[in-house]
Amino acid sequence: MANSMKGIILAGGSATRLRPLTKVTSKQLLPVYDKPMVYYPIETLRQGGIEEMLIISSPEGIGDYLKLLGSGKDLGVRFTYEIQDKPEGLAQAFLIGENFIGDDSVTLILGDNIFEDDFSDAIKSFESGGRIFAKAVSDPERFGIVEFDDNNNVISIEEKPANPKSNYCIPGLYLYDNTVIEKAKQVKPSERGELEITSLHNMYLAEGNLDVRFVEGAWFDAGTFESLWEAGSYMRKKAVQE
Ligand code: G1P
Repeated sequence: MANSMKGIILAGGSATRLRPLTKVTSKQLLPVYDKPMVYYPIETLRQGGIEEMLIISSPEGIGDYLKLLGSGKDLGVRFTYEIQDKPEGLAQAFLIGENFIGDDSVTLILGDNIFEDDFSDAIKSFESGGRIFAKAVSDPERFGIVEFDDNNNVISIEEKPANPKSNYCIPGLYLYDNTVIEKAKQVKPSERGELEITSLHNMYLAEGNLDVRFVEGAWFDAGTFESLWEAGSYMRKKAVQE
C-alpha cells in the first residue's frame, strides 16, 4: 500500500426515527446487546488494521464520544474528533476530515452500521479508486442501490430510489483513495439538501474506478426500532453460542 489507510466513523444525525430513545443521547451510543453501537464499526475498522480514526458527531453529541472513547489507547487505536454542525450528508465527512485524511486513503463507516464480516482483506488489499459493498435486502427503497449486469458489472447507482432497479443495497462501509476529497468538493446538494455518498460513487463509476464486493455475513443499519432490536438480539445469540 503506497499510502496508509485512515478511518472515519460518522456518528452524526438527529435520529428522529428513534425518538424518544435519542432525545437525550446519540443513536450510535444506544446499546446493541452488551456494547454501545459505535463499538461495532470501530471494531470493523480495527480488524482491518486501521489505527487512526476520526469520529465525527453533532455539536450536542461529540462530548459523549470523547468521554466514552478518549484517546483510543485502551483499544490500541488513536481517535481524533470533529464536529458536523448540521447533518448535511455523508459526503461532508471528507470535507470535515480533509486535514485528518492528509495524503492517505480513507475508509468511511457509518456509526449505525453493524457488520458480521471481517473486512481485513478488502481493506488491506485496497490500492486506489473506490471500493464499496453490496448486500441483498428486502426493503431496497430505504438505501443506496447498485444495479449489476449479468457479469456483475455495475450499471447504475441510485440513492433511495422509489422504484429500485435491484435489491442490492450499498451498506455504510466505503473505501476511497485520496481523490475523494476533491470529489466531495464537487458534489452538489441533492433534492433533500444533502451531499450524497451516491454522488461520489457515480464519479468513481464514471472514471471506471469503482469496485464492488459482496457482504456475506449479517449486516444491520440500526436506525429503526426493528433493526436496532434485531441487531441486539443477533449479537446476543452469537455471544451465547460462542
Ligand atoms: C445512508 C446512505 C445509503 C446507505 C445507508 C446504509 O442512508 O445514504 O446510501 O445505503 O446509509 O446504512 P441513511 O441510513 O443515512 O438514510
